[in-house]
Amino acid sequence: MQSAKHLANLPSSYIREILAAATSENCISLAGGLPCANHFPLTHLASTIQTLDQDTALFQYGTTKGYEPLRQHLLERYNVSAEHDLIVTNGSQQGIDLIARVFLDQGDEIVMEAPSYLGAIQAFALSQATIKTVPQTPVGPDLDILESLFSSGNIKFFYAVPDFHNPTGVCWSLETRQRVGELCHKYHVALIEDAPYRDIRFHGEALPLASSFCPDNALTLTSFSKTAMPGLRLGCVRGPSQWISLLERVKQATDLHTNLPLQHLLLQLLTHPAYPAHLTTLINVYGSRYRALTDELSSQLGEWGRFNAVDGGMFVWFELNQFNADQLAKSALENGVAVVPASVFYSGEANAPAALRLNYSHSTLERLKEAVSRLANVFKLVKVAA
Ligand SMILES: Cc1ncc(COP(=O)(O)O)c(C=O)c1O
Repeated sequence: MQSAKHLANLPSSYIREILAAATSENCISLAGGLPCANHFPLTHLASTIQTLDQDTALFQYGTTKGYEPLRQHLLERYNVSAEHDLIVTNGSQQGIDLIARVFLDQGDEIVMEAPSYLGAIQAFALSQATIKTVPQTPVGPDLDILESLFSSGNIKFFYAVPDFHNPTGVCWSLETRQRVGELCHKYHVALIEDAPYRDIRFHGEALPLASSFCPDNALTLTSFSKTAMPGLRLGCVRGPSQWISLLERVKQATDLHTNLPLQHLLLQLLTHPAYPAHLTTLINVYGSRYRALTDELSSQLGEWGRFNAVDGGMFVWFELNQFNADQLAKSALENGVAVVPASVFYSGEANAPAALRLNYSHSTLERLKEAVSRLANVFKLVKVAA
């Protein structure tokens, strides 16, 4: 059967393409955005898992908006106002997909940061939206360029990851959050704030959500993949009730509802007395892995490139001096270390710089050190060959 024409717009996933090589025994992968499986909070769930079969209602069809006890917990946890609502989704990726399906017609214009999260680029490309991009500065999007894009009057929404961006790790300053809120309000552009890394902060104080500066004109996506476990496939979207109702209508046509037993497990985890300690441990582990990776980058790769410090999340963006990032990533894979070149995170119109995304959440301190040693050899090899 012939595939639909719009599939031609779907960029492929580099990370999936290299998965076999990146997960082979001899390779250390800094490529994916995988959390550390040794810190999955499974022990806190053991007794709940054992007693799941006592509640047959959990195995019946459920409501599209989500398992009500979990929804009520999340409404309270996120202080959702009476005019706003929340829908539980299959990871925040489904939230992004639903937003694209509800709000985008072919040719609608949206703005994304450049670079941006590949899964969102894919979802918006499938909707055949026209993607405009705003470059990033160390404190968030370039506000002058953002305003000139918004002032064209055609932008439907601005999709952004203000906390510990994927792929760059950038965290927007307070001033940037306020200003983006003002601009969204002034130009009637909705803000789609994707916040999967927000709770993984190992340095500094949490800042208000950017959407808190334009709450009636924003949707906020939360994921439980990074703080709990990605295999649960759980996230949620919150925002004005009439928008959540539209997401609910489309979700009903997509998958009826999210898996109930897993929503129940997530609720037990979020309300477990040991959950705050689990989060603290996770943050400490990722903080020490981040420091180990960046110490090695400074000492072993200083002559080949540079990075900006990050305060949380899972990624470091390593900008290269005079190298082709695609070629370097290919040689790195051949030499036992997987990394992602910048080009993967740029949609059609923007030019990718020479940079690599490096993940530190998934590898032990020893393996991070070894990965950087392997990268140092790759830089020497590529330089000699050039
Ligand atoms: C910015 C961003 N949004 C969304 C997702 C998808 O998260 P989930 O596992 O909740 O679907 C990811 C996953 O890496 C991400 O980096």
